[in-house]
Amino acid sequence: MSQTILLTGGAGFIGSHCALALLEAGHRVVILDNFATSDRSVVAAIRALAQADVPLVEADIRDRCAVAEALRAHGVDAVVHLAALKAVAESVERPLAYYDNNVGGMVSLLAAMDEVGVRQLIYSSSATVYGEPEQLPLREDHPLRATNPYGQTKLVGEQLLADLAAADERWRVVSLRYFNPVGAHPSGLIGENPKDRPNNLMPLLVRAARGRRDGDNEACLSVFGTDYPTPDGSGARDYLHVMDLAAGHCAALSALRADRPPVQAFNLGTGRGTSVLELIATFERVTGHHVPYRLAERRPGDVAELVADPAAARDALGWVARRGVEAMCRDSWQFATRGEAAS
Ligand code: NAD
Ligand code: UD1
Repeated sequence: MSQTILLTGGAGFIGSHCALALLEAGHRVVILDNFATSDRSVVAAIRALAQADVPLVEADIRDRCAVAEALRAHGVDAVVHLAALKAVAESVERPLAYYDNNVGGMVSLLAAMDEVGVRQLIYSSSATVYGEPEQLPLREDHPLRATNPYGQTKLVGEQLLADLAAADERWRVVSLRYFNPVGAHPSGLIGENPKDRPNNLMPLLVRAARGRRDGDNEACLSVFGTDYPTPDGSGARDYLHVMDLAAGHCAALSALRADRPPVQAFNLGTGRGTSVLELIATFERVTGHHVPYRLAERRPGDVAELVADPAAARDALGWVARRGVEAMCRDSWQFATRGEAAS
């Protein structure tokens, strides 16, 4: 059934891919973003790719009146809530900014939804809510704990939704715990394009591979940790193509039904771990470009391995990740080199 979806953070990396997936599935999409960490040009790219007039509400989720007005004006049925700040190190330095934006913003968004009577929400959670894993692969019933302020804001978000649904049975919420989203739209027109220096592996790997092209000789990738209990000693993660992740949001919409539990949480991952060194080797093979790297100390706060058990999403949502690490590397590179002649 076609619905009207308000996508908070819809101009961001994951939001832009979700917008396209929802439009392709026949839904109407309204993007709400304050462009704190994204660019207005992304909305134009979404419109061009979808060949649709996608309304944009330039607003902050903390502006309750603006959000309520957007929900009313567009006749919104459900909200996909992605708007958040996500840099772990920055969250340690600026906890107030993170609690204000991610927790305060979510309280304000939910209050606006309640006021207007829109009580269906899909929430961008994260594998970070599992903290240090006690068992792998991670199942949704693994104990939840945060190890940094960013993770704490994601966890508080899940708890807030549980409390809200317990207080009012009309709410239906799904938390999606993303593992490590990478890759880009196969058009090469949208992808991960952080305004500030990236912190995550794939954008840094791409930057290192581009180094010589950009005259950036300093862009050597540090491989954080060589003595983890993994086959090659580098950390392993469950990398997930952002196109598969976006499809997971369409699947989750179907779970926002009165006959389903009011609060559900699903891992979105592939169930397969890839080490940093394996990812570098795959990237070099697929793109034909060398990645300069150096072996370095472990990064504080990192764990050896994080891998999802994606069975619950498969069983309840009919969702499985289809794309492999090769496609993730190829599409990330294609986006990074968009508009350039092949070399
Ligand atoms: P992103 O920074 O690319 O996108 C976030 C978007 O939200 C941006 O467009 C930003 O401008 C917008 N935004 C931020 N605060 C806002 C506010 N107060 N009002 C309106 N708009 C606001 O990040 P992303 O990677 O697309 O992440 C999206 C969501 O997924 C976040 O909630 C993040 O915590 C979660 N998540 C991301 C990852 C990942 O690796 N990328 C992993 C797990 C969870
Ligand atoms: C990080 C965050 C996590 C957040 C997620 C998405 C930390 C500790 N965790 O996850 O909370 O939900 O991003 O935003 O920051 N690596 C290198 N060299 C680099 C960068 C990373 O070797 O320059 C390694 C890391 O040690 C790790 C892997 O690459 O083994 C993936 O790192 P990253 O992309 O930052 O994701 P996570 O640490 O899994």
